[in-house]
Amino acid sequence: MCGIVGYIGHRKAYPILIKGLKRLEYRGYDSAGVALISDSCQLNVYKTKGKVADLETFVSQKDISGTIGIAHTRWATHGEPCSANAHPHYSSSGRFALIHNGIIENYAVLKEKLQAKGYHFNSSTDTEVLVQLIEYIQSADHIDLLTAVQLALREVIGAYAIAVMDRDNPDEIVAARKSSPLVVGIGEGEFFLASDATPIVEYTDKVVYLEDEEIAVIRRDSPLKVVNLNNVECPHKVQTVSMNLGQLEKGGYPHFMLKEIFEQPACINDCMRGRVNIEGNNVVLSAVIDYKERLLAAKRFIIVACGTSWHAGLIGKQLIETFCRIPVEVEYASEFRYRDPVIGPDDVVIAISQSGETADTLAAVELAKSRGAFIYGICNAVGSSIPRATDTGSYIHVGPEIGVASTKAFTGQVTVLAMLALTLGREKGTIDEAKFVSVVQELQHIPEKMEEVLKLNDRIAELSKIFTYAHNFIYLGRGYAYPVALEGALKLKEISYIHAEGYPAAEMKHGPIALIDAEMPVVVVATQNGLYEKVLSNIQEIKARKGRVVALVTKGDNIISRVADTVIELPAVMECLDPLITTVPLQLLAYHIAVCKGMDVDQPRNLAKSVTVE
Ligand code: G6P
Repeated sequence: MCGIVGYIGHRKAYPILIKGLKRLEYRGYDSAGVALISDSCQLNVYKTKGKVADLETFVSQKDISGTIGIAHTRWATHGEPCSANAHPHYSSSGRFALIHNGIIENYAVLKEKLQAKGYHFNSSTDTEVLVQLIEYIQSADHIDLLTAVQLALREVIGAYAIAVMDRDNPDEIVAARKSSPLVVGIGEGEFFLASDATPIVEYTDKVVYLEDEEIAVIRRDSPLKVVNLNNVECPHKVQTVSMNLGQLEKGGYPHFMLKEIFEQPACINDCMRGRVNIEGNNVVLSAVIDYKERLLAAKRFIIVACGTSWHAGLIGKQLIETFCRIPVEVEYASEFRYRDPVIGPDDVVIAISQSGETADTLAAVELAKSRGAFIYGICNAVGSSIPRATDTGSYIHVGPEIGVASTKAFTGQVTVLAMLALTLGREKGTIDEAKFVSVVQELQHIPEKMEEVLKLNDRIAELSKIFTYAHNFIYLGRGYAYPVALEGALKLKEISYIHAEGYPAAEMKHGPIALIDAEMPVVVVATQNGLYEKVLSNIQEIKARKGRVVALVTKGDNIISRVADTVIELPAVMECLDPLITTVPLQLLAYHIAVCKGMDVDQPRNLAKSVTVE
């Protein structure tokens, strides 16, 4: 979703801004733009529909001088993707330029008011209204930019991360946030602005995460000033980010998604580091121990999440119910937040989010907090909004995930949920010692078993070629494998645009079976676990209707291999951790089918990595 980059300092701004936009490409966007105050104090704004590379082509031969600038990738909300709607937007006199991530909900009222004062609009965006409003306020009273921004934002209802420049003052950028992330990077006499730290880490590891309704005033060679809408100074903490550049590059892989699939064994090790002991017989999540009384007192857990993180939540439910005997509900955050849910101080809410910025999940957290629930976050992006809004939590520590389709974050989330269930179950006394130790030991072996699965990459690539014709897919699984089926189907539709449905295998006969014919590929997670025999029957039902079955089976299975059209053999894993293994071939299958179809795997159409609007 929209990406913001800004720079002020002594270097040329343009290359820094363009590189920054490229680092933010993973968030998903449909147009891009840049505004610079040139060496001759002109405000130059260049924008275009399409990719950052299209912007570079458009800008070649133009004046790109200047040591101050702002740049933006836009994911359309108000108005179609086109250059007029792309950011930066500028005010009628051409004096102010602004970039914005979020939604100005009362833009129509404000626009009418400004139109009545003679303001003309070049776009159908909510953002242009804000920059015109700033100019209107500034010119009426001849006040400074900060004051104009403060007054304008007081009139705004909605969410924003903005950066504004004034052509007549090339020494300052004013930036503000409310419900949309914004990070200030602090260099030597220079500052960087961005939606997350990825465009900044190349230059400095010192960052400040702005809080809601905070405004940063950044000036060359001056200390950072942070104030609120009423101009009261806000204390701000300078944090050190540990991300490195290698993590942000493809490292020889054709796509970030493939790199991230292959990183999973290392990521799971990173996720367990310091939590599972060296002997491999104990696991401790410190947040669980620190808040053990509160967690153990809970009558119910509610997991809120969206997309892939919601699928991880479904696995978490089974893990927590099995090991802790606490009832768990799993809710789409977007539904939960508007449902007036029955929730109170006896509840613990677990918010799962890779980005830590998903607007619906954040709103669900705020709602649950306001009703007295205790909030536990499971996030990847360190310092993002959700971890900051929760009472406690555990990071998954899988490193930045750039591919829009989530892969390593999912297995990281499941790993943390397993560690949470184990730690809490032991404290509660609902898991016996032998079972506890055996699950911890199995957890330790997951990375090497994942390595084994990754060796199937070439075979899955070959298999994928057969399926490029397909318009539909069905994915089936039961028990722990049901969320895996959902996740497999989601991965395929996200990046290959093939329609895919995930179903609990036994539900097939209540509807989806009507779709099965010789054209229909059905992927079945059929590893040797509790419901193996039942899944075998489901496969036979599909075969009786001539469906094409691809079955994930446990190595050595010679029953399903006789019935299914294709089998993918996987190492045997304890049922509760099986999703960590069975998900991997489904990620690879989706990836290779999308590649065969020539799709933009890392940036699929219409999707955003970080969904900061509801
Ligand atoms: C978007 C992404 C998905 C992700 C979902 C939830 O839709 O494209 O990959 O699963 O948001 O994101 P979160 O950051 O909250 O896990």
